[in-house]
Amino acid sequence: MKAAVIPEVNGRWELLDVPMPQPGPGEVLIKVAACGMCVNDVMATRGQIPFPAITPAITGHEPVGEVVELGRGVTSRAVGDRVGATWVRATCGRCDYCRLGLPVTGQSVFNCVAPVTTGFSVQGGHAEYLVAGADETVLIPDGLSAELAAPVLCAGYTSWSALCQAEPGPGERVAVLGVGGLGHLALQFSHTCGYETVAMTNSAEKHELAGKLGADFVVGSGAELREAGGADVILVTAPSYSAATEAMQGLRVGGRLVLAGIDPDESFVIPPAVVYPFFAQGNRILGATHNGLPYLREALRLVAEGRVTPMVEVFEMAEVADAVDRVGKGDVRFRAVVKY
Ligand SMILES: NC(=O)c1ccc[n+]([C@@H]2O[C@H](COP(=O)([O-])OP(=O)(O)OC[C@H]3O[C@@H](n4cnc5c(N)ncnc54)[C@H](OP(=O)(O)O)[C@@H]3O)[C@@H](O)[C@H]2O)c1
Ligand SMILES: [Zn+2]
Ligand SMILES: [Zn+2]
Repeated sequence: MKAAVIPEVNGRWELLDVPMPQPGPGEVLIKVAACGMCVNDVMATRGQIPFPAITPAITGHEPVGEVVELGRGVTSRAVGDRVGATWVRATCGRCDYCRLGLPVTGQSVFNCVAPVTTGFSVQGGHAEYLVAGADETVLIPDGLSAELAAPVLCAGYTSWSALCQAEPGPGERVAVLGVGGLGHLALQFSHTCGYETVAMTNSAEKHELAGKLGADFVVGSGAELREAGGADVILVTAPSYSAATEAMQGLRVGGRLVLAGIDPDESFVIPPAVVYPFFAQGNRILGATHNGLPYLREALRLVAEGRVTPMVEVFEMAEVADAVDRVGKGDVRFRAVVKY
């Protein structure tokens, strides 16, 4: 089969012939139709987060495709099912963390001693075929195309989890910092849930689009947000903790700042008390990741119902290296999806 292989750290992705994976007991073989490209795929390519620990290095954790073969003992999936796989698929089941009995989430990766992670510990979805445990896959709602479902498997899953993590209440205002893969979905999720929604972006050319995605208004910084009355929730989807620090001054009393973006380099800092008196505001800082499959199912349902629509740029598999370049430059509006 053909797969997009990362030859080395900072290498340009190459479309190569690699051995076809075979489904073992309990596994299914998926013919990948499309795989979204998360900025984390680019960060892994650059070695900013761990490079895939697999040879050949094939990443990608937003794959959607069709089950074409069942391994021994599979009962929960059938040939012809349309399925997706997410970043975190399974845990070791034996370590101290696993003994807590928590669901498989993004948290599992950093606590289980041997998690199974698509495109990091096992082959990812930027390939014509992928093997996954049958019960590690999710069914894609009927009528939802692979190209639109793919971004939900990480970007949608994370941004919906982040919004829910903040527990917004009726009449609250939600700001989204960073209008990219995660952020453009976060704006739509917030808007469709009826919250007053604010986009925080550095990019003037995204202002109009942000409005179309559900932003009631757009600001360029936390200082501007404060001028505009602040927000109860700020969802940080930018990969910058310094931008998150600046945004904090736009938090209303009792507000929640949710760090979904990952900054590989800098620490998150609470601003000096004269700028922002954190000690007095009753605010909370939360993290968010893939918070459990019920959140993914809800996100998929909102997309299948047309209440939220990923904006994607679709690439042919021969163009995969160009897609990486464009994602790396932040040029894509708003998720690159590669067809296989
Ligand atoms: N928590 C999780 O489990 C999880 C899962 C997936 C991804 N992530 C993280 O989420 C973040 C976003 O991923 P993505 O795929 O949505 O990336 P993306 O498509 O590149 O979008 C990120 C957006 O953030 C803004 N931005 C970029 N660099 C910035 C900087 N230095 N300072 C301030 N703003 C900046 C830009 O928006 P504007 O042009 O609007 O300013 C950009 O479009 C990344 O950090 C990624 O690692 C986390
Ligand atoms: Zn991702
Ligand atoms: Zn474990």
